[in-house]
Amino acid sequence: MYHLECIKCGAKYGPDKVIYTCSKCGGLLDVVYDYSEIRLSREDLKGPLSVWKYKALLPVSREPVTLKEGGTPIYHLRSIGKEVGLREAYAKHEGMNPSGSFKDRGMTVGVTKALELGMKSVACASTGNTSASLAVYGARAGIPVIVLLPSGKVALGKVAQALMHGAKVISIKGNFDDALRLVRELCVENGIYLLNSINPYRLEGQKTIGFEIVDYFGWEVPDRIILPVGNAGNITAIFKGLSEMKRLGIIDRVPKMTGIQAEGSAPIAKAIKSGAASIAVEEHPETVATAIRIGDPVNAVKALNAIRASGGTAETVTDEEILAAQKMLATKEGIGVEPASAASVAGLIKLRRMGVIEKDEHVVCVVTGHLLKDPETVIKNCDKPIEVEATKEAIEKALGMKPSIASY
Ligand code: F0G
Repeated sequence: MYHLECIKCGAKYGPDKVIYTCSKCGGLLDVVYDYSEIRLSREDLKGPLSVWKYKALLPVSREPVTLKEGGTPIYHLRSIGKEVGLREAYAKHEGMNPSGSFKDRGMTVGVTKALELGMKSVACASTGNTSASLAVYGARAGIPVIVLLPSGKVALGKVAQALMHGAKVISIKGNFDDALRLVRELCVENGIYLLNSINPYRLEGQKTIGFEIVDYFGWEVPDRIILPVGNAGNITAIFKGLSEMKRLGIIDRVPKMTGIQAEGSAPIAKAIKSGAASIAVEEHPETVATAIRIGDPVNAVKALNAIRASGGTAETVTDEEILAAQKMLATKEGIGVEPASAASVAGLIKLRRMGVIEKDEHVVCVVTGHLLKDPETVIKNCDKPIEVEATKEAIEKALGMKPSIASY
């Protein structure tokens, strides 16, 4: 019912081949289904949102390794929308997945595929969330997990998760791009299953974010989906999934895919702005949003196509804009996300102010990871707790209240 196909030279590979890029030309691979065989309609898709609801468009047949991922909430951004003059602004909170990020959608499919292919261990390089998620799903599946992290640049909550769920954690003296290059070699040479987003099966799981968005709105397609871009897997996955739904006649159009990158780590946004056919690698990426601190996104070719083919765009935001958006979401909407996730909302604010987003657009920001992933950045950017003696008077004084009658 499906095979792997090179997006560059069109070479085809059987679904059971363990392969990550085209062995003929090195191009990226896509999972391509026999669409004429898939009978899927809106009628078939009644019921609550979840990754496995869309099984007909997922490339596995065995019982899934699952922790009930997906089905994440969509919130109306009332205050932020009002502030920027946009009535239909929403955030899909992917931090509400089992490990606290959208990566769980990819890992439930990817780890299930690892078992289906008979692989005995799994690995990834990560800025943090991928490693946390792989550790969780590896534990659930009962297979060993190896993760490579850029030393000193991974938020505390993510490292804690990888360690607690039992992954072998290797901290390398290099950045994410170095870690990814090394883990690819390690996997190919040692028969370990690679679960970075270069693995096309993992991306299949992530496309369910897009499915859930259109499903939630009663198959009303939003004008635009905005998301933070790092290794550029998610934006391509969502675009691919929604293009498949359009092809099957379930929806009538695909939203404008809009990618946001941090200013110090923005090869995709720069290529989109300059109209370049390919990215220029950022040798020393830097941003407070460590999750998207990536200079050589592995899915760049797919992402540039997703953005251009959907009529979308890409933009950069500063670290200050990211932290301000994180605080606005937290204090004005009650939505707690990590810095990288807030990049999508910082992008929404910037693009609305620039007039790129029009006032009557229906826009969904994907907020990708939970606030608690990166407690250190939060503590650094908030006032310290006020320490007082353990008396009512001291508390009232600290709160700026007049002493209560009872204390006279
Ligand atoms: N937001 C968060 C919270 C992330 O962790 C990531 C990627 C992204 C956005 C960007 O998604 O790579 O598909 O463009 N984190 C990866 C990791 C790289 O290792 O956890 P992308």
